[in-house]
Amino acid sequence: MLSLEAAGRALERAGQAHVLRFWPELGAEQRDRLLLELSQVDLGGLRAHCEGAAQAAAAPPRSLDRRLEPVPPDSIGSTKTGDGRTLAGWREEGQLQISKNRVGVLLLAGGQGTRLGVQYPKGMYDVGLPSGKSLYQIQAERIHKVQEMSDRKYGSKCTVPWYIMTSEFTLTPTEKFFKENNFFGLEPSNVVMFEQRMIPAVTFDGKIILQSKGKMAMAPDGNGGLYQALVDNKVLEDMEKRGVEYLHVYCVDNILVKVADPVFIGFCVSKGTDCGAKVVEKAYPAEPVGVVCRVQGVSQVVEYSEIPPETAELRGPGGELVFRAGNICNHFFTRAFLQEVAEKYKDQLKQHVAIKKVPFVDSCGNQVTPTKPNGIKMEKFVFDVFPFSRTFVVFEVVREEEFSPLKNADGAAKDTPTTARNSLLAQHCSWATAAGATLLDAGGKALQSPASVSAGNCSPAFEISPLVSYFGEGLEDILKERTLPTPFILDEKTAKDLQARIPPQRDSLDRVGRGGGFVQE
Ligand code: UTP
Repeated sequence: MLSLEAAGRALERAGQAHVLRFWPELGAEQRDRLLLELSQVDLGGLRAHCEGAAQAAAAPPRSLDRRLEPVPPDSIGSTKTGDGRTLAGWREEGQLQISKNRVGVLLLAGGQGTRLGVQYPKGMYDVGLPSGKSLYQIQAERIHKVQEMSDRKYGSKCTVPWYIMTSEFTLTPTEKFFKENNFFGLEPSNVVMFEQRMIPAVTFDGKIILQSKGKMAMAPDGNGGLYQALVDNKVLEDMEKRGVEYLHVYCVDNILVKVADPVFIGFCVSKGTDCGAKVVEKAYPAEPVGVVCRVQGVSQVVEYSEIPPETAELRGPGGELVFRAGNICNHFFTRAFLQEVAEKYKDQLKQHVAIKKVPFVDSCGNQVTPTKPNGIKMEKFVFDVFPFSRTFVVFEVVREEEFSPLKNADGAAKDTPTTARNSLLAQHCSWATAAGATLLDAGGKALQSPASVSAGNCSPAFEISPLVSYFGEGLEDILKERTLPTPFILDEKTAKDLQARIPPQRDSLDRVGRGGGFVQE
C-alpha cells in the first residue's frame, strides 16, 4: 500500500495537501482506509483532474447550431417503417448470432440513483408490479427467454453472458441480491460483475472535497467509465474466451428494455456496423434528451442544452422533427470496436460536469450538509465513443414499446415508479388483447377495446412474465378467446393451466382467481 510520505508528496504536487489535514486525529483503521483510497486514485493525473473540473464547470455551455446534421437515412433502421419481412430477417440474423454464443449483454449499473433516492442499487427496485419483481429479475428473465427462443429455433444450447458493471456503491448489494435470488435461474458463471473506478468530487476552486475527516467524497466516473473498467477487469479477454463478438449495452433503469434484442442485433450485424444506437423519437422539441446526430460529419450525441431552440424545432417535409433521434442509452458494439476504444481512445473521452450537493467536513472539522450545490463530479458518458466508429448506425424504435426509464421518486412529473409500472402493464395489456383475450376490471366489467388499450390509455394489472413471452410472441395459444380477471399474472404456471383447458372457453371469475391464481374447481 501507499506510504504516508508518498501520499503526502503526491497530494502536495497536485495542490491537494488539505486531504491529509486531519491525519493526526485519525485512528489506525481510518488511516489505513484513507491510504487505500488514495492508492486507488490516479495521483499522477490528480492535478489535471481537479483543475480541469473547476475550469469545465466555469466554462460557458457550447452551442453547436449550424454544424449539426441529422444522421443520413442510409444509416438508419427502424421498427416503425421497416416492413414485416425486413424485420423478420433482422430478428432471424440476431437469433442466429445468439444461438452461436456470439452475443453478450452488458448492463450499466454503477450509478448512485440519487434522484430516485433509495439506499440500494436501482436494479433491486420493485416498481410495484403484481409479481413484485425487481428490474434485475425482469432483465434476467428476458435473457433466459432470448436464449430459449434461439435454442428452439436453431436447436442450440446457447448462452448470452451477462456482464454487469457496478461501482463501489452497487457491487456488494448487487452480488448479495443475485445470490439470495439464486441468480434468477441463470448460471452464476455466466453473470460477470465488475467494478468501475471512482474519482474525487471537487469544489468550484478545484479542491478535493473531504466527506469526513478520513474520507474523500468519491463518485463513480460515469457510465463512460465502462471502457477503463473493461481493461481494469479483463472483461474483453473474458468475452474473447467465450467467443462473444457482439455486445448489447444498456442502462439499468429502463423497465421496457429488450435485453439482447435480436432485431437490433440482427440489424447491426447485417449492416456490418461496429457501433449502433437505439433511439426513440423525441416527444417534443425541447424534451431534455440527448440527440444522436452528426457534428461536421462526425456521429455523436449532442446534449439538449447544446442545441438552440430554433434548431430543435426544425421540421422535415412530413412535419417530423429533423433532430428527433432521442438517445436512450441502448447500444450495440462489436468486441473489436471495444478493443480499439480500450487501446486507443478511452483516455480521449470528453469529461462532463455534474454540479451536485456534496456533504463535507469544513476546515474546522464540522460536518456540513450543503443546502445548495457545492461540488463538481466529473463523468464520462458511454456514448462518447460514437465519434470513433467507422460505420455508425441508428435504430429507431417505438417509445411506448421499448423505453420507460425509472429516474425519479413518485411525485415527480415523469420517469417514476408509477410511470414505469404503468408502461409495462399497458404493454402487457395490449399484448394480451392483441392475442385475443378479454380482460375484466375489479368489478368484472370488460376493460377497454384492444384499440384503446394499445393506445396506452389503460394499464390494468395484467402482467406477463418474460419467461412466457419476450415481446408479445406466443400468446395466442394461451390467451385466445379467454376472459380473465385483473389483477392477473401470466407466468409459466398460469400459462400451463390455461393451456390445459382446451378448447378455449369463456373463463369466469368462479374458475380463475384474481392475481393469476386459479380457484379450486
Ligand atoms: P444516470 O445518469 O441516470 O444516473 O445513469 P443514475 O446514477 O442512475 O441516477 P442519478 O443521476 O444519480 O439520479 C444512467 C445509467 O448509467 C449507469 C446507471 O446505473 C444507469 O444505468 N451509471 C451511471 C453507471 O453505470 N455508472 C456511473 O458512474 C453513472
